[in-house]
Amino acid sequence: MLNVFLKNHDYKYEVSELLKLFTSQFEFVEDEDIQDNILVNEVNVKDNLIISKTYFYQNNKLALHYEEEGLIDELDYDDKMIRKESKIIIKRSIFKVLTKIYKSFVPWGILTGIRPTKIVHELIDENKSKKDIEDILKKKYQMDESKIDLAYNIACVERKFVYPIDENKIALYISIPFCPTRCVYCSFPSNTLKQWGHLKKEYLNCLITEIKGVSEIVKKTNKEIETVYIGGGTPTTLEADELSLLIDSLYENFDLSKMKEFTVEAGRVDTITREKLNVLKEKSVSRISINPQTMNNETLKEIGRTHSVEEIKDCFHMAREIGFDNINMDIILGLPKETPEMVENTLKEILKLDPESLTVHTMAIKRASRLNENIDNYEFSHYMDMVKMIDISMEYAYKMNLIPYYMYRQKHMLGNLENIGYAKKGFECIYNIQIMEEKQTIYALGAGANSKIVYIDENRIERVANVKNIEHYINRVDEMIKKKEEEVLKDAD
Ligand SMILES: C[S@@+](CC[C@H](N)C(=O)[O-])C[C@H]1O[C@@H](n2cnc3c(N)ncnc32)[C@H](O)[C@@H]1O
Ligand code: SF4
Repeated sequence: MLNVFLKNHDYKYEVSELLKLFTSQFEFVEDEDIQDNILVNEVNVKDNLIISKTYFYQNNKLALHYEEEGLIDELDYDDKMIRKESKIIIKRSIFKVLTKIYKSFVPWGILTGIRPTKIVHELIDENKSKKDIEDILKKKYQMDESKIDLAYNIACVERKFVYPIDENKIALYISIPFCPTRCVYCSFPSNTLKQWGHLKKEYLNCLITEIKGVSEIVKKTNKEIETVYIGGGTPTTLEADELSLLIDSLYENFDLSKMKEFTVEAGRVDTITREKLNVLKEKSVSRISINPQTMNNETLKEIGRTHSVEEIKDCFHMAREIGFDNINMDIILGLPKETPEMVENTLKEILKLDPESLTVHTMAIKRASRLNENIDNYEFSHYMDMVKMIDISMEYAYKMNLIPYYMYRQKHMLGNLENIGYAKKGFECIYNIQIMEEKQTIYALGAGANSKIVYIDENRIERVANVKNIEHYINRVDEMIKKKEEEVLKDAD
């Protein structure tokens, strides 16, 4: 057990997130006099100079010591900036000691948040050169070169879609929180049809009520809809006539004439039929997802996806036949019992299908997943295997002419790695980029959907969350509309 003592500050949350990259065996102590296996960190601020020292004592002797310092530009000097910079300097001095104690390779350095590209955007906004940005990522954040390139290149692709920022444009997200069954790793809003299917029709009616309500807000504020994304759960748990009703209500209530992209995350192939795909095509859905997660039958069974690899392929060919020319596929690396060879097999099969985009997730063990409840029954990949799997996925993505265009990290990911969206040029999903970079307002409708209202001038985001439970949503849909109305229209008049 590593004891941790913080002196002159109480950034326990930030420090514990950093410690978790190396070990789960640590505890904060209040007594500096322990002399064994203790890491002591202190910070001192003198005018605009911040100094952080970290000491590690083992067997009553000082074993390691690092000191880091940083100057705050006088123009930026305020309490908020001191706090922000102190956290970075504290983390850096602790990081250097931890890498020596644990001899680990931690490629994202001190970055524990989920959106590394945001830092790159901030630096580009400050007109820093590529070389300066690379230096800052390396020295200030201790990132490995491979990740520096990745974050920089992705930020450059994203900028074409995010900038210049147009506050008049917004995105719409529609949540269909039903699934045929629950996959073992998943913690998304996914209510099984068996248990909740009887509420599907009523849910759809309420969703249409929310669509009408939100369309009034959009009209009042004169916003233009850039993208629409129907996700979940699994939207294709709706029958063809239900999908038709839902999409018609979007066209009836919103002006979608300037929409650049319309995605439906079809998702699991055991819910996709020719009739449903025909509806999506007729209604001008431009992008769909057909998600294998893996192309290995034994794993599909293990994770509770009740369909075969053959069915994935058939479904993909059917979508092509119907005319879908922008198909995404999601995979997860590090699924139980999967080896790098199995991941290579998945990618070989995907290469034959040649989708326009591929989203590579790294397995995250979510608290609310079935897998977490029975964690001892599963075998997971080791860190170096995860790194191999990521390399294989990148190699195959490049073979398919797919370029990384957005990325994010999640908490509790195996190896604290990343999720990367790859796409052929011209097939990048604008919605995915906007949701990650948080420069565009997103109205999110349906149970469990979270709206983000972005105030660019004030560098502020307000979140408005809909209730997760389907019954609660049905009973309280008017309140969901009102909450959004109150946030968005509060400054009007
Ligand atoms: C919102 S889910 C919906 C997708 C759709 N229902 C399906 O199953 O194909 C989006 C994606 O997140 C990924 N995902 C879900 N849970 C995950 C986890 N615990 N770790 C890593 N990726 C996960 C999967 O790749 C999934 O396709
Ligand atoms: S991965 Fe998709 S189908 Fe599986 S439970 Fe999650 S949302 Fe539902």
